Amino acid sequence: MKFTIALLVVLATVASGAVIQGISRSNLSTGLVYPGDRLLSRYYLYQPARPNTIQYQDYVYRGNYSTRISAVTATEVGLTQYASAWILSGGVGYNSVTVRVQSAKGYGFYYAIDVWGR
Ligand SMILES: *[C@@H]1O[C@H](CO)[C@@H](O)[C@H](O)[C@H]1NC(C)=O
Ligand SMILES: *[C@@H]1O[C@H](CO)[C@@H](O)[C@H](O)[C@H]1NC(C)=O
Repeated sequence: MKFTIALLVVLATVASGAVIQGISRSNLSTGLVYPGDRLLSRYYLYQPARPNTIQYQDYVYRGNYSTRISAVTATEVGLTQYASAWILSGGVGYNSVTVRVQSAKGYGFYYAIDVWGR
């Protein structure tokens, strides 16, 4: 019984976290680019708008065993569509990262996702 309640709380927190992110920020920026770092990957995620639908897509970058990610950014391209982007797993200090991009209801998204590191 206790376990069920704990699980519900976690799910609710995740859900409201996503909502808050959607309202407060559309661009993602974590970490710092240091001298010697390279742009390991630039990837564009694009979805056209769909009526009454929230759309999302995950981008996964995987480095090798020696890769260290120093910064991850996701920047909306063009006029804002009120979308949001956040990190699902990995990121700064890891060798991989998963970024989720989610549209606002009835809108699309267009993001440039950059992964920096060495
Ligand atoms: C996100 O980045 C774009 C491009 O730099 C900028 O035009 C836009 O204002 C930014 N959005 C927010 C909410 O900061
Ligand atoms: C591992 O990835 C780094 C970039 O993070 C690259 O510079 C390096 O050449 C790669 N090493 C191998 C063995 O593929």
